[in-house]
Amino acid sequence: MRLAIGLIGLVLLAACDTGTEQRDAVASTRTVQRPYVPVPPGTIARGTAAQEAALAPPGPQVTPDLVARGEERFRAFCSPCHGASGRGDGTVVSRGFPPPPSYHEERVKALSPEQIITVITRGKGRMYSYADRVLPEDRWAIAHYIKQLQRDAGASVGQGEASP
Ligand code: HEC
Repeated sequence: MRLAIGLIGLVLLAACDTGTEQRDAVASTRTVQRPYVPVPPGTIARGTAAQEAALAPPGPQVTPDLVARGEERFRAFCSPCHGASGRGDGTVVSRGFPPPPSYHEERVKALSPEQIITVITRGKGRMYSYADRVLPEDRWAIAHYIKQLQRDAGASVGQGEASP
């Protein structure tokens, strides 16, 4: 008798596992994780008005929370190539991806948050766009985190760093 109840339980559990609700959930995740498709320059995406408003300077106020959010997003999306300290030595690079310039080169240090955001939105050279993965608000957060990273490196090393 107990065995029979156990078996029924197993059958019910198995039924849950293949339930359509779960399959729907999986299907909707797939549509979010679409493969990267290059966007021709000048293309206007759907939902652009709200996006543009969120990207318009001066952007959100720079608070410790915003920068902390930027650090978290940076570690998720950018450090695999740029490295945790922005020196262009992330794990992807160690596997053969062309190394990005160090964030501590004078030229990159001179980039404004807006210019960093443009790189995230449109990509640059061998770096592809992160527009479909990083929300506009988060682009500000990441850009301000990078500026802080550059300032901190300059402060700890002294008179800034020479280009690698
Ligand atoms: C797959 C590797 C990769 C990832 C991930 C990546 N980048 Fe890059 N990034 C590059 C490469 C390569 C370059 C150099 C591009 C070139 O000049 O050809 C670059 C260049 C840059 C530059 C310098 C642009 C300039 O003017 O020289 C900035 C700023 C930048 N990336 C920011 C980011 C941010 C922010 C993220 C995360 C949202 C990110 N990158 C994620 C590979 C990557």
